[in-house]
Amino acid sequence: RERKRKEGVNLLELSAAFFRERLKMPEASGAREYLATRGLSTDVQQIFGIGYAPDDWEALKRHLTERGVSEAVQVEYGLLVHREESGRTYDRFRDRVMFPIRDIKGRTIAFGGRVLGDAKPKYLNSPETPVFHKGRELYGLHEARQADHRLERLVIVEGYMDVVALAQFGIRNAVATLGTSTSEDHLSRLFRLVGEVVFCFDGDRAGRQAATRALETVLPLMIDGRQARFLFLPEGEDPDTLVRREGADAFNDRITCASPLSEFLFDQASAGRDLARVEDRERYASQVLAALGKLPEGVLKSLMLSELSRRTGVDQSSFAALMARAAPSPS
Ligand code: CTP
Ligand code: MN
Ligand code: MN
Ligand code: MN
Ligand code: MN
Repeated sequence: RERKRKEGVNLLELSAAFFRERLKMPEASGAREYLATRGLSTDVQQIFGIGYAPDDWEALKRHLTERGVSEAVQVEYGLLVHREESGRTYDRFRDRVMFPIRDIKGRTIAFGGRVLGDAKPKYLNSPETPVFHKGRELYGLHEARQADHRLERLVIVEGYMDVVALAQFGIRNAVATLGTSTSEDHLSRLFRLVGEVVFCFDGDRAGRQAATRALETVLPLMIDGRQARFLFLPEGEDPDTLVRREGADAFNDRITCASPLSEFLFDQASAGRDLARVEDRERYASQVLAALGKLPEGVLKSLMLSELSRRTGVDQSSFAALMARAAPSPS
């Protein structure tokens, strides 16, 4: 098992080096121009090991095969695609800007490749392999730790470009889930490293839904004074576009002012309700109580209960009774 992991990582490092070298060649002028139009300096490209997969069906295959890597292993690690009908194999990544995905120790475990224009799919990622489990990894975590080993806060964004663009502006503590929603596994890994996470998803419908799901996911993890906050971007913006428009200071101010979990939770529950009405207040209270039911026992929960009581004018002890009744019976 361990031997297999080493073999895979070597092959992935060989590939990452190949993509980096190719980005320097004349054939990559379009890719270099693309990265320049996205505002990425060669310094930041180097930090993240960004490269280029040439417009060729077998360039990487030749490179790896010459170095003794079997086609079977290249397929297993997602670099080659095997077509069943013809029995042929070809490079998965062609004519794309390549982002190596690294584990926390900096070993390359997979790739994401972006097209230079508007073709689809915009991003192509490595499939699940013996070393890459998409729902577990966070892009940029190694690089964030390199920048500061004593990180206190991580900003969770949606995309590769968001992480890299923020780094370009000196904001080196962003990580991205790889096109999947933020899982409890992601969050408990992050909370082992830092006391605070700030969710910063795109300013669109999908981004707002992601924030709602993230709230649900993070509630059970709110122990030991951990902080979770939510940063909402203006409609149509993502961290990349916004930091380029506003600059680092303004973006850092937004991070500083991001809503704490309690505020987001109360805001969500009151959205679309008229709290002057008794019935709306009742639904508001049930929604908040349902969320509080997921919070671990502690000071935060007590404070939120008394805040709910203040906001609805209902005595706190009736809430406690309601919550006890709503709680799932121990099995
Ligand atoms: N994603 C993916 N496959 C796609 C589209 C998106 O894997 N076809 C993942 C990528 O990790 C991407 C993230 O979801 O970075 C966020 O998607 P999106 O907001 O659409 O992309 P951006 O990161 O904003 O990409 P860009 O700025 O390059 O357009
Ligand atoms: Mn595994
Ligand atoms: Mn989006
Ligand atoms: Mn973007
Ligand atoms: Mn985006």
